[in-house]
Amino acid sequence: MDIDYHKYPFPRVRHHTNSQIYIPHHELHVIPNGYPPLRPSIDWTECFTNGSAPQVLDIGCGWGKFLIDFAELNPQLNVLGIEARSSAVTWINGVIQGENITNAHALFYSVANKLPFIADQSVSHIFYFFPDPWFKKRHNKRRAFNPLFLQECHRVLQSTGTLYVMTDVPEVDQYQCELLDSTGLFTHTPVTNDSDWFTIKTDQELFSIEKGIPYVRRVCKKR
Ligand SMILES: C[S@@+](CC[C@H](N)C(=O)[O-])C[C@H]1O[C@@H](n2cnc3c(N)ncnc32)[C@H](O)[C@@H]1O
Repeated sequence: MDIDYHKYPFPRVRHHTNSQIYIPHHELHVIPNGYPPLRPSIDWTECFTNGSAPQVLDIGCGWGKFLIDFAELNPQLNVLGIEARSSAVTWINGVIQGENITNAHALFYSVANKLPFIADQSVSHIFYFFPDPWFKKRHNKRRAFNPLFLQECHRVLQSTGTLYVMTDVPEVDQYQCELLDSTGLFTHTPVTNDSDWFTIKTDQELFSIEKGIPYVRRVCKKR
C-alpha cells in the first residue's frame, strides 16, 4: 500500500501494440508476434510462495495497483492478475518481487481464450474493472465480457463467489447488464455506498475520480 513506485520506472511502451491480442486464438488465421501464450495449465509454485492456486482473479489488471493493494490487504488469499499487455505484466511482477509480496502474480494472458488453468468452483472474487470500451459495433468481438466469459466466471467461482464490475462508460454498463440478464448466470446490484465497496482503488478509478468522471460499480452474485 505504501510502495514507493518511483523505484519502478514504467517501461516506455505503454499503449496497446496489437488489437488482435483480444481475439480468441482459434479465430485467428495468423497468430501475431507477441500474442499472449495459451495456458492449458499452470504450476502455481511459479506464481505464489505457498504454491496454491489463486482464489482471486483481477481480469484486465492493467498496471496492477488494485491487484497489489488487494493482495497486501488479504495475505491469506492468492491474487492473480490477468493482463494481455506483456509490458504491464513484466512491470507488475517486478514490483511484486521488489516488494517481496508472496501472494500476488500477474499473468501474460488473454481471457479471450477462457480460463482452462483455473479449477471449477475455486475462486471467491473476480474483478473486472474498467474494461476497454470498444465502442464500434465491429469491435464487439474484442470485448472480453461475452457469454463465454460469463460462463467461465460462473464455472470457476465458488457457490458464494462474486464477480465485481466497474465502468465509467454507460454503454458498456448497459451492454454488460444486458448480458448478465440474458445469460441468467448472475444477479447484479449497483453499489452506491462507498462503505459497501473496497477501500482500495484501481488506477483507472483514481483517474475517473480526479477528472470527475462518474462510474458504476456492480456486485454480481452467482445464481
Ligand atoms: C482500461 S484498462 C483498466 C485496468 C485496470 N483494471 C484498472 O481499473 O485500472 C483495461 C485493461 O484490460 C486489459 N484487457 C482487455 N482485454 C483483455 C483480455 N482479453 N485479456 C486480458 N486483459 C485484457 C487491457 O490490456 C487493459 O490493460
